[in-house]
Amino acid sequence: MNFQLSEEHLAVQAAAREFAQKELKPGVIERDSKMEYPYEQIKRMGELGFLGMMVSPEYGGGGMDSLSYVLAMEEISKVDNSCSVIMSVNNSLICWGLETFGSDAQKAKYLPKLASGEWIGSFCLSEPEAGSDATSQRTTAVDMGDYYLLNGTKNWITNGGTSKLHLVMAQTNPELGSRGINCLIVETSSEGVAIGAKEDKLGIRSSDTHTIMYTDVKVPKENRIGEDGFGFKFAMKTLSGGRIGIAAQALGIAGGSYELALAYSKERTTFGKPIHQHQAIAFKLADMAMEIEAAKLMVYRAAWLKDQHMDYVAASAMAKLYASEVAMRHSVEAVQIHGGYGFVKEYHVERLMRDAKITQIYEGTSEVQRIVISREVTTGKPY
Ligand code: CAA
Ligand code: FAD
Repeated sequence: MNFQLSEEHLAVQAAAREFAQKELKPGVIERDSKMEYPYEQIKRMGELGFLGMMVSPEYGGGGMDSLSYVLAMEEISKVDNSCSVIMSVNNSLICWGLETFGSDAQKAKYLPKLASGEWIGSFCLSEPEAGSDATSQRTTAVDMGDYYLLNGTKNWITNGGTSKLHLVMAQTNPELGSRGINCLIVETSSEGVAIGAKEDKLGIRSSDTHTIMYTDVKVPKENRIGEDGFGFKFAMKTLSGGRIGIAAQALGIAGGSYELALAYSKERTTFGKPIHQHQAIAFKLADMAMEIEAAKLMVYRAAWLKDQHMDYVAASAMAKLYASEVAMRHSVEAVQIHGGYGFVKEYHVERLMRDAKITQIYEGTSEVQRIVISREVTTGKPY
């Protein structure tokens, strides 16, 4: 067993850290306050290769492993979680899903644009009546011979106002239940695609989350991913990898909160000594360091299992569940360690605390992760 990161991994980690601290941190408070989409920053992330990290070089990607992606997600999430969720959806749900399950023609047509960041993608599974209960898809894709006729509404769609491509889950054969669902590649320039208003959110406020309406959208048959009825399995398999990315986001939020709290505890003096010398604060820092370390081991290991092509369904759910709980708990503690200063935007920890909450909700709530984990462990699956 080797816990040492390779030279390549350390280089990716350092590059992401430098980018986040130098190029994301300066405007992050303002973008968050104004719900301003980070156009410039996302363009730059495309140029630096952060939007198609795992895509093979053949399609213009970085050809990197999942651990490299996780290390970059973690560093960027210490600073700007709007940028990291955009990055996470594009890398692990869109590019990975397309490259792993798409046809050669689909990959050649779409991956170069997505890997470079020229296009950003959206993953469209959730509906007003189908969030956790994702098999209850009401959006329909009626088979019309050489095309599907798509009708329905998706909500909470990340990148909804900016993406050029949607991967849309829709029901074709309701009598088959989840086996009747297809995943269709929909270009957002298609007639009948409408974008609803941008959500005003608690956290990740400069990412754009929208409701999307599809009305009689004609989707060519060649835009279906995989065999007829593969759509739900596509979504679940893709989300198992996506959850490692969100686990890394949560790890970054926890780590960023800890770094800020540790530095502040050395600067702030009360009763004649720096506050980290008061045992109450020192013990908080000890608990933060310990739990972040445990989360890190789980997240890196889930990425490693994926890179080894081993079963990672339970490991990714465990990593997301635990890391998101650590992020929530310790971003709150970071605010506490900052006292009153923690409650104002200038010190960054209140934003991380607000951002932490979503990691317990999207890509499957904590309750859904427990459903996934319990099913895997009770049926004897490896983790
Ligand atoms: N891999 C492959 N197949 C899988 C699978 C997996 N990980 N998980 C389930 N399946 C298959 C099952 O084997 C079953 O197939 P068969 O009928 O052929 O046996 C089929 O899928 C249906 O599975 P279940 O019976 O287990 O379905 P269920 O109704 O009990 O639901 C669930 C299971 C785990 C709760 C699932 O619905 C789920 O994950 N819900 C949460 C949805 C979610 O995570 N949404 C995230 C949206 S994207 C997002 O949020 C992005 C973002 O924010 C940035
Ligand atoms: P519900 O499913 O209604 O759940 C409500 C509560 O009940 C939760 O606490 C849940 O855990 C609990 N619950 C439900 N069923 C059970 C059960 N069987 N056992 C125990 N507890 C249960 N979706 C996309 O498809 N693409 C995106 O890009 C995307 N981005 C998002 C961005 C943001 C900012 C947000 C807020 C959401 C996003 N989502 C996206 C949707 C997200 O994945 C869903 O919100 C999430 O899966 C939960 O679904 P829901 O909101 O319908 O809650």
